[in-house]
Amino acid sequence: MTEQIRTLIQTRIRQDIQSMHAYAVQDSTGMVKLDAMENPHRLPAALQAHLGQRLGALAFNRYPNSRVNDLRQALANYAHMPDGFDIMLGNGSDELIALLALACDVPGAAILSPLPGFVMYAMSAQLQGLQFIGVPLTADFELDEAAMLAAIAEHKPAITYLAYPNNPTANLWNAAAISRIIAACADVGGLVVLDDAGIQVTAQGWFMVRAVAMVFDRCLQADRNRAQFSRII
Ligand SMILES: Cc1ncc(COP(=O)(O)O)c(C=O)c1O
Repeated sequence: MTEQIRTLIQTRIRQDIQSMHAYAVQDSTGMVKLDAMENPHRLPAALQAHLGQRLGALAFNRYPNSRVNDLRQALANYAHMPDGFDIMLGNGSDELIALLALACDVPGAAILSPLPGFVMYAMSAQLQGLQFIGVPLTADFELDEAAMLAAIAEHKPAITYLAYPNNPTANLWNAAAISRIIAACADVGGLVVLDDAGIQVTAQGWFMVRAVAMVFDRCLQADRNRAQFSRII
């Protein structure tokens, strides 16, 4: 790096960004790669060919137009989304996590999640200048429910993240504990994000549908109680 570029970085890039570390992707050559919540299986050859044809025929020279709404509608139908709700699409859930931090960046706002947890929860808070509260898991990687409830009551986080299954510990949380955490977040007027990025590797996807419905129910209840939100989307 030249002296000129070093000076440019030092004067123009935020100090806290300069002291961050890059996300390290471990070399997995010759190994069975099970981390990063990836699907180990490639697409079947026939599907690869079919997708190639479909993608090749798309108008990549244009910005997407209303087709995105067709996709949102198709996903809503697939998920049996109730009336009055909506779906937001992102370039991967990392983008949605970053946008949520941006959207909730009001003075004093905090983001809370169990630790160890998905790195982007803390990083999105740090990048956006929000406080991050990490609540350590128990020694056997379970939610420390009492500590979570105490931290929610103390910090009143704008967003509480629960990854289901958790990354990096890969376990599913206790359903009753999740319900109580959602209720506690609703009591302090906070949002709960149940992040099911790794749900395809579990056999308990059904639970999420119920839990998400519950989150919205609690949020809408917070809405009625506190008149803070006109509609949670
Ligand atoms: C819990 C969790 N959320 C979000 C993500 C990011 O997913 P995406 O590839 O959709 O950005 C990951 C990726 O590993 C994850 O484990």
